Amino acid sequence: MSLGWDGPCKRGVALSDVRMNRRPLPQHGKPWEPPAPHACACVADMLGDCHARIRYFASLALRLAEGEACPVDAREAAARIRRYFTEAYPLHVADEHDSILPRLRTRVPDCEPLLTRLENEHRCLDTKLPELLAVCEKLESGAEEECAAAVAKLRSLGECVQTLLDAHLTNEESHLFPLIRERLTPEDRDAIRDEFRARRELAMAASHSQQNED
Ligand SMILES: [Fe+2]
Ligand SMILES: [Fe+2]
Repeated sequence: MSLGWDGPCKRGVALSDVRMNRRPLPQHGKPWEPPAPHACACVADMLGDCHARIRYFASLALRLAEGEACPVDAREAAARIRRYFTEAYPLHVADEHDSILPRLRTRVPDCEPLLTRLENEHRCLDTKLPELLAVCEKLESGAEEECAAAVAKLRSLGECVQTLLDAHLTNEESHLFPLIRERLTPEDRDAIRDEFRARRELAMAASHSQQNED
């Protein structure tokens, strides 16, 4: 799974397409993928790319819940959802917590109520996402009984997670992104991009060394 913005600066699928709720589950062969990330974009666009991926995987979880018991390729889709929310999503949250919010606190002190609200939303999501990961783990097991129970749980949980996520992402796109574009300095944005890249390089290096140990 790519964690960074090191690909070519092109977009295979419009963002509006990604936001559609109904996408086919990945089938054998080449699965549908979220759009290629920006390589040369502004910070808000980079965060927007992450939001497209978050929406994609949240809607994939809902699609999984539409099956009677275990939809086709549920194991593979559940594994991708779990991998995304375990590996890539925490990097996005760290981008906001460690690179964006502290700078906005310095540059725009009167945006504190917004930043506090966004942090609360992150905490709220942090309590729900582990439930989603646990359900995905059960689906990955492929055990028939576990699978049926997991799909049933996913019907309510998937909806809840998607609602929370969508409200949060929309808040950021409506209120946080304009502040990033308008109130941070070019030096801030350069430093933020460097931090985003370094964070992913570190994660990739840790993942490679973990694989070598396994
Ligand atoms: Fe966020
Ligand atoms: Fe975000």
